Amino acid sequence: MNNITRQQSRGAASDGSRAGADGDAALAREAKELRAALHRAAHQYYTLDAPELPDAEYDRLFRRLQQLEAQHPQLRLPGSPTQRVGGAVLAGFAPVRHALPMLSIRTQTDTTSAGAERFDQQVRSYLQSEQRRLQLPADDPRHRSEPLCQEALDALAGAALAFVAEPKFDGLAMSLRYEDGVLVQAATRGDGETGEDVTQNIRTIGQVPLRLHGAPPLLEVRGEVYMRRDDFEQLNEEQRRRMAAGDRNARSFVNPRNAAAGAVRQLDPGIAAQRPLSFFAYELGQITPAQEGGPDFASHWQVLQALRDWGFPVSELVRLAHGPAELAAFHADLGAQRDALPFDIDGVVYKIDALALRRELGFVTREPRWAVAHKYAPQEELTRVLGIDVQVGRTGKLTPVARLEPVFVGGVTVTNATLHNELEVHRKDVRVGDTVVVRRAGDVIPEVVASLPDRRPADAQAFVMPAQCPVCGSDVVREEGEADHRCTGGIVCSAQRKQALLHFASRRAMDIEGLGEKLVDQLVDRDLVHTVADLYRLQPDDLVGLDRMAEKSAQNLLDALQQSRQRPLHRFVHALGIRHVGERTARDLAQHFGSLDALMAASPEALLQVPDVGPAIAQSVHLFFAQPQNQEVIAQLRALGLAWQETADPYKPLPLAGRTFVLTGTLPGLTREQAQALLEAAGARVASSVSKKTDFVVAGSAAGSKLARAQKLGIRVIDESGMRALLADS
Ligand code: IVH
Repeated sequence: MNNITRQQSRGAASDGSRAGADGDAALAREAKELRAALHRAAHQYYTLDAPELPDAEYDRLFRRLQQLEAQHPQLRLPGSPTQRVGGAVLAGFAPVRHALPMLSIRTQTDTTSAGAERFDQQVRSYLQSEQRRLQLPADDPRHRSEPLCQEALDALAGAALAFVAEPKFDGLAMSLRYEDGVLVQAATRGDGETGEDVTQNIRTIGQVPLRLHGAPPLLEVRGEVYMRRDDFEQLNEEQRRRMAAGDRNARSFVNPRNAAAGAVRQLDPGIAAQRPLSFFAYELGQITPAQEGGPDFASHWQVLQALRDWGFPVSELVRLAHGPAELAAFHADLGAQRDALPFDIDGVVYKIDALALRRELGFVTREPRWAVAHKYAPQEELTRVLGIDVQVGRTGKLTPVARLEPVFVGGVTVTNATLHNELEVHRKDVRVGDTVVVRRAGDVIPEVVASLPDRRPADAQAFVMPAQCPVCGSDVVREEGEADHRCTGGIVCSAQRKQALLHFASRRAMDIEGLGEKLVDQLVDRDLVHTVADLYRLQPDDLVGLDRMAEKSAQNLLDALQQSRQRPLHRFVHALGIRHVGERTARDLAQHFGSLDALMAASPEALLQVPDVGPAIAQSVHLFFAQPQNQEVIAQLRALGLAWQETADPYKPLPLAGRTFVLTGTLPGLTREQAQALLEAAGARVASSVSKKTDFVVAGSAAGSKLARAQKLGIRVIDESGMRALLADS
């Protein structure tokens, strides 16, 4: 493993035809190293649920080995990772022999739309060769006598093939066996022939039905166990919190799939039950045959419908497609939605719809000819850490940030990735010079998820949190029980001042357009602005002459400042940047107290009366307003003419106060922002995900998983007119 790097494995791919004894020895050595690296990675992935190599890197090494073995058959050894699929069975779970093997899917390597075209062609040329076999003389060993199915004949006559296109869920495959409608066994894929009995753990997944109604006496359902992104974030946050508190049993996970695999293969079902898992069904395994009264499906589309009827979650994203162009469109559409989906996918799967045609096409080794996976660009990649910088945030928090060799991942070039705090740096053991796994999924900020100690250079440097603030030189402290280090410089620290100004001006706070990072840097560095009050004292002369500031842009900024003098109270409270007070809490506080004076005068006890305000928030708010320098800035702002819109009567109850709404899909007459504003004006909260605490889901057209979740949890679903009625009533 040591001396295989991405560069080498790529570079070597171009000189596969090297000749001579030396060359042979070098190739044999390379193949050996590739085998060792792949074995090790497979063990980490399948058996330990602790993968080190990103999939993209694994695939590269795997393909290089396949290529070497194809060009030099003497290098192909029986134990080679290319000769088997899946992983070994972990001690601790009983082995389960699958009644029908669990197959893998061939991956179409090109990530462009050509993948769909190629699949369609491959199916067609296979059918053509079968047709030719029909015409061979009866004594030819290749002769075939049974006729082709109707769908095959239609395709050969030029009809478009019918496909089902599905997301390729990034979780782990599961086979669920039901006898007389009762879940009797759940098994992992294992090596495809034999998996592990994880029934106890799977029973804890709410989305997996334990009893079926109207299902045939014998039914095996194949599908994917996965973890939603929000559930993953929450779980990891909780695990990190426990680790910080010294809990040795806690561990955090690299990605949702890894977390899902860890939960499924958790030996203690009690712990598995606490891990939030989800499930999608996508295939059948063994089933009562039609001759014995079982269902007689003609198409996969019918199968998916039946799975839904029996109570299994089937993704709303699956589509019927005719011909390769529709497959390619599906690939592109889903690719565009990928970041916004509530779960990870790593590609799409194209499947032949007609089951008769599937039987006709059959398998090559363990891969069916009737399905192919078409992947997306990877969301995890390897790169090197060039340095670890420390950034100072608005509240003085010091954040270690890895400076990276630029790497293309999740659709963007990443050069920096947060390491959160010192504890995280040490837990992941990231050192300068290390090769690390970088992940970027969705619009989540890029993250270093793991380092590869195997590839660590001898001179790699461990990270040490500085004792003095790198910006202002003040002492750095870490409070008891907290993971974060903070600069004690407060307003003295220009980094903190800059961040505070940027936050004050940000879109969701005072929304001062044009006051961005470059400008704030100059204003602070030239001593033009110390506090947020100074912003409103700026004169045209102060601005003209700054970098990229012409008269026009200076006037625009002054106009924007002028406009920001009147904002709703909650925005102003948010803009103050009080520790622990985000947008939501600011809203709650503004709503509860109605005026800034009432809020400033509130005792910790009074603050605790606000819904969802706990002791930490109450303390922080109280402390903030008790500081003379904060009172002074607020007085200055008032003197400068700032007047936030306060609720006239703080005791007037808001009609939808205490109600939580979730918006999903497209409403006919309102944008999402407008709907949210209307609801919030009536005192409701608008949350981004559906939970037991949700009171109403407002669903428009093309509502997806949130709607499904609401229905599952029995939450009231209304449409736009239902929402308007609630608002009108109130
Ligand atoms: S069908 C051959 N459908 O991909 C048919 N698999 O390499 C068997 N997967 O381990 C699988 N999404 O975990 C199928 N919509 C989907 C899938 C899917 C993800 C995974 C599955 C399996 C792997 C196949």
